[in-house]
Amino acid sequence: MSDELAALVLSTRWLGRTHEHHAVIGSTNDRAAAWGEHGALVTADAQSLGRGRFGRPWHSPAGANLYASFVLRPPRADARWSALGLAVGVGLREGLARYCDDVALSWPNDLHVAGKKLGGILCEARWLGNTPTFVVGFGINVHARAWPPELAEIAVSLAEATGRAAPARAELLAGLLGALEPVLDAFAREGFAAVRERYEARCISLGQHVAVSEGDGSTRRRVLAVAIDDDGALLVRARSGAPLERIDAGVIEHERNRPA
Ligand code: BTN
Repeated sequence: MSDELAALVLSTRWLGRTHEHHAVIGSTNDRAAAWGEHGALVTADAQSLGRGRFGRPWHSPAGANLYASFVLRPPRADARWSALGLAVGVGLREGLARYCDDVALSWPNDLHVAGKKLGGILCEARWLGNTPTFVVGFGINVHARAWPPELAEIAVSLAEATGRAAPARAELLAGLLGALEPVLDAFAREGFAAVRERYEARCISLGQHVAVSEGDGSTRRRVLAVAIDDDGALLVRARSGAPLERIDAGVIEHERNRPA
């Protein structure tokens, strides 16, 4: 099982050209951060301490799914890089579309099929003076068909979503990185504006009433999600006729669904 990802063959120019695979690791994000080389890729068959956004645990059983992290060290970065996770979502969704055209984006950077979570993205930044190191981790549910009770209603794998055997993880990962690299190049040159329309076209949150929690999550309010701006912020309207408000970071809950 380990050998499949260890023998990854890529067509990318720079993304994942150096690659380290682990049978088991705490979190691929932590290893990628310690490595710190631009473009370096870390994969694992299983994670013992896989984590999601807001420190939530990320279900990481052996061999079933993709757990991958890569490093970005742009020479300089400005506020526009706050939308990095959304741009990564565009690339991953387009890579996944080859296998399942129903994959959608839920703001800010979750991958969903029919309201269930197929994958998630965790971007972490460390700064040395003005120079950032970004670590982008993503988990994609690929072969899993059994879930712990707390995920049974909210998670889905590619195999479940398509009703077919999913591709081997190495083939899938190579395709995802191939789709992602040009998106990252465009993002580095032009910011999120380069892919914003592609994001909006596949974002299930837009046009929906959602419950949004910001900050410490203690307050939730119901708003209409209207658009995404060039910084990746969600533009919402609290009630008809009210001015648009920006939500820079937060958790949204779609009506009749669980948290995204
Ligand atoms: C989320 O939706 O909350 C983000 C989930 C990110 C999970 C991936 S799995 C590979 C990488 N290593 C981690 O510990 N987390 C990310």
